[in-house]
Amino acid sequence: MRNLDDVENMVYDAASVTAMVIAAMSRTQNVRLKEIVDALVEHGHAFLKQVKLTDEEFEKGLDFLRAVGLACNDKHNEVVLLADVLGLSTLVTVLNNSDASGRTPGALLGPFYRGDSPQYAHGECIACEYSPGSPLFVSGRVLDTKGEPIPNAKVDVWQASPVGLYENQDASQPDKNLRGHFYTDGEGRFSFKSVRPAGYPVPTDGPVGALLEKQNRHPYRPAHLHFVVIAEGYATLVSQVFADDSEHLNSDVVFGVNRRLVGTFERHEPETGPKSAVDEPYYTLEYDFVLAKGTPTYPTPPIK
Ligand SMILES: [Fe+2]
Repeated sequence: MRNLDDVENMVYDAASVTAMVIAAMSRTQNVRLKEIVDALVEHGHAFLKQVKLTDEEFEKGLDFLRAVGLACNDKHNEVVLLADVLGLSTLVTVLNNSDASGRTPGALLGPFYRGDSPQYAHGECIACEYSPGSPLFVSGRVLDTKGEPIPNAKVDVWQASPVGLYENQDASQPDKNLRGHFYTDGEGRFSFKSVRPAGYPVPTDGPVGALLEKQNRHPYRPAHLHFVVIAEGYATLVSQVFADDSEHLNSDVVFGVNRRLVGTFERHEPETGPKSAVDEPYYTLEYDFVLAKGTPTYPTPPIK
């Protein structure tokens, strides 16, 4: 039999496994990739030791991840959903979008962002004429951290309907309904009309929904509008504005609510207030976005 004294890479115990894997990855040329995967292996191995994962549990976990992948298609991304309900997406957002500059906090992009939304002029409606619901008039400014307006900023908005469905989940809505983008004017202003969104449950028909049920968690998000704000010379803002009177503001299933992102949805009686021509109860929302200097980035839509 071969003398094995000179063979170093052999399994002796749990610690030797981690050391072997780290050594095997030691020639990774990309320094950042090495840092990330080394830490992933070290923390992953520590996790297995902490919970003393059994063979059966390991198989179940692998089956779960396989099911998450298989549940993805062009219109639904179960991987994003899993990251969201475990707080991973929000943690990454907070780590990368919080500082003392005074900029608006980021919030997660979510699984419903689509690229190339229709462009609208100031004040136009992003809801098609067959979209029933309480009218909502949104206005605001895009400012820098000194309070100066940022003209020509792209304000991209998307939202769920008054029954809590995005258009790609709802055959009754036309393509790209409740989605649109605007460019701010010389004073950094934008405005549009819409219908008031409802809170909604995240999709629960896949493996992530089964996990939520086992965890005895509700699947709801409070009502919100999504925004991506992009301007030359500034870091892109991906965020959400939440309705202050919404249910589940205290228990968002994806942990997105930041105090500074709660907007005042002011209710007005018919023929009163700033839009007195409206003959039914309506809402107004005024919200300013503050961008920090930086390089614009363009988020990748998780669905087509
Ligand atoms: Fe959403």
